[in-house]
Amino acid sequence: MSLQAQFDDTIRRDHRIEPRDWMPEGYRKTLIRQIAQHAHSEIIGMQPEGEWITRAPSLRRKAILLAKVQDEAGHGLYLYSAAETLGADRADLTERLIGGRQKYSSIFNYPTPSFADVGVIGWFVDGAAICNQVPLCRSSYGPYARAMVRICKEESFHQRQGYELLLTMMRGTEAQRSMVQDAVDRWWWPSLMMFGPPDTDSPNTAQSMAWRIKRHTNDELRQRFVDMTVPQAEFLGVTLPDPELRWSAERGCHDFGTPDWAELRRVIDGDGPCNAERIARRRDAHEGGAWVREAASAHAAKRAAQAER
Ligand code: 3HC
Repeated sequence: MSLQAQFDDTIRRDHRIEPRDWMPEGYRKTLIRQIAQHAHSEIIGMQPEGEWITRAPSLRRKAILLAKVQDEAGHGLYLYSAAETLGADRADLTERLIGGRQKYSSIFNYPTPSFADVGVIGWFVDGAAICNQVPLCRSSYGPYARAMVRICKEESFHQRQGYELLLTMMRGTEAQRSMVQDAVDRWWWPSLMMFGPPDTDSPNTAQSMAWRIKRHTNDELRQRFVDMTVPQAEFLGVTLPDPELRWSAERGCHDFGTPDWAELRRVIDGDGPCNAERIARRRDAHEGGAWVREAASAHAAKRAAQAER
């Protein structure tokens, strides 16, 4: 059996491709593209909520937020490690992010003007992440799927802490309730866009599904997120900002309006509300940490020289 035939047979039998297995170059490139951009999203995703760590309204909220933001850093590291098993170089991936030659999720280019945004990010963004990432636990590439298992366990804490924060605010003052509704109004549509362009305009989906890297299409996962979130919004007592949102008995799911795909394209192309700020901060952090990387390399070289004596 040829190497290609062995690869095809492994995918067909829904078994895992491991780093030492032969794989088509296109499969490897697609994985590096998706895993690297997923990792970049985790690291950039630390910024919007990180801005609230020093301003959290209580020690409890500060501790929860600290834990969550630290988790995102860990998610990024798992995913960069998974990308390295494909031959990618972490420093090169970071340069590609900072240089605008690789993407990160559009959702992290929106501002967080109130503490209610921290709750809505947990509820919507981490909720959307759960919809997107649980199927990736069955991705055909072993290291990616295994990283997803650990990440998804932590995502459920992220989603619950956000929703619990909002429940608390909704039981508070009228001002707190309107802060929550304002955040819901600002984050709902960007959260639907997070799942990617419509299937009719998704150049990577067909091949990624054939290779069982992706297990569902962008529209399927978007629909799953809407259906999961509507009852949560009703229980919370907020209104989702979509006049077309309604249950369709015929389809067995919710009908909803069309996201502004031109906005998604603009934000992906770098013209979102916070793109420049997010990349500038990532660049500063990378440059500011150069001394740590240099010290670690010098230490490793010294240890290697001692080992050779
Ligand atoms: N933001 C930025 N770029 C996006 C995007 C978005 N929301 N949606 C799509 N794109 C890009 C794609 O990367 C692709 O560009 P590329 O070919 O240069 O990479 C192009 O738009 C066309 O999109 P496709 O649908 O054809 O691309 P994919 O098949 O790769 O689907 C995806 C896009 C659904 C994001 C898929 O890559 C995916 O599932 N990735 C893994 C999950 C992920 O990265 N999530 C990002 C959020 S991280 C997160 O949620 C962290 C949590 O802790 C909050």
